[in-house]
Amino acid sequence: MFHLVPLDALLARFSPTNIFAPASTPSDYLYKVALLSLAVTGAIFLVVAGLLVYVAVKYRSRPGDPSEPLQVYGSRQLELAWTVLPVLIVMVLFLSSARVIHAVQDAPKPKNAIEVIVVGHQFWWEYRYPQYGFVTANELHVPVSDPQRPTPTFMTLLSADTTHDFWVPRLAGKTDLIPNHPNSMWMEPHKTGLYIGQCNEYCGTSHALMLLRVYVQPRQEFDQWVKAQQQAALSPESLSPEAAEGRKVFERTACIDCHAIAGTIADGRFGPELRHLMSRETIAAGVASNTAQNLRTWIQNPGAFKPGARMPAMGLSDQELDEVTAYMMALH
Ligand code: CUA
Repeated sequence: MFHLVPLDALLARFSPTNIFAPASTPSDYLYKVALLSLAVTGAIFLVVAGLLVYVAVKYRSRPGDPSEPLQVYGSRQLELAWTVLPVLIVMVLFLSSARVIHAVQDAPKPKNAIEVIVVGHQFWWEYRYPQYGFVTANELHVPVSDPQRPTPTFMTLLSADTTHDFWVPRLAGKTDLIPNHPNSMWMEPHKTGLYIGQCNEYCGTSHALMLLRVYVQPRQEFDQWVKAQQQAALSPESLSPEAAEGRKVFERTACIDCHAIAGTIADGRFGPELRHLMSRETIAAGVASNTAQNLRTWIQNPGAFKPGARMPAMGLSDQELDEVTAYMMALH
């Protein structure tokens, strides 16, 4: 009924996080049950408010008429009607919600599902792809699902510190990432594109700057992206002299305690894996676009972009900053 006009496309333009523009199976279920609830509660509102207005107008006091309208005490029919009807309405809402909860929670995982382990950190997202053997951060890539041959993405949600919450409204409902309590969720996007969201559980100073970006790609493009992520980091010999200097600076400071660059001595787990940093469009969990200037500013003073960021300013000289930035720019 609502799909005669491309209403969802219109709503998505109005807000990229619109729950009324679902683009994935679980969010589509939620959208439909939300419409039903809105229709039922809207009808109740119209009946109650309509009766109220009708009675207020019809039985208003009129000048020169001090008499009261007829008073009715006790009515079995009325009592029955306003007990039974609400019970039936609640049953309908309960059963339709239960059906959706079952369909989302107990969905079977097909063999060809993409598996991603999502780890929430203050204030960024770690994405591990165990089937493909690589780790990335902040920009989740998943293939679009063909209804003929569904390829949903199943995610295990973990946390490295405090409670976070994964919510990309157009793709799925929200689910918490709780320390020491693995959660799970899944999505099955029907349309390619970039879907955004953000952490939905207060997790510290930069909670509001813990943004989510999900790139839904055609299968072929997704496979190419996977292949590129699996590539080893550039060997030191292929770096420009400035980038090679930057690598030395990077490896002799505390950068390597937190960051990993597979294939180098950098093996930290506290911050994002940087091997293919330049394949990302943004830095600092979607806060700034991934340009040389922004990278330099970020390395110089992470707090400038993100108050409370866990990454410290390393007190590098201007020259060292340029060199480390050049090294980052070489991490394709
Ligand atoms: Cu992470 Cu709020």
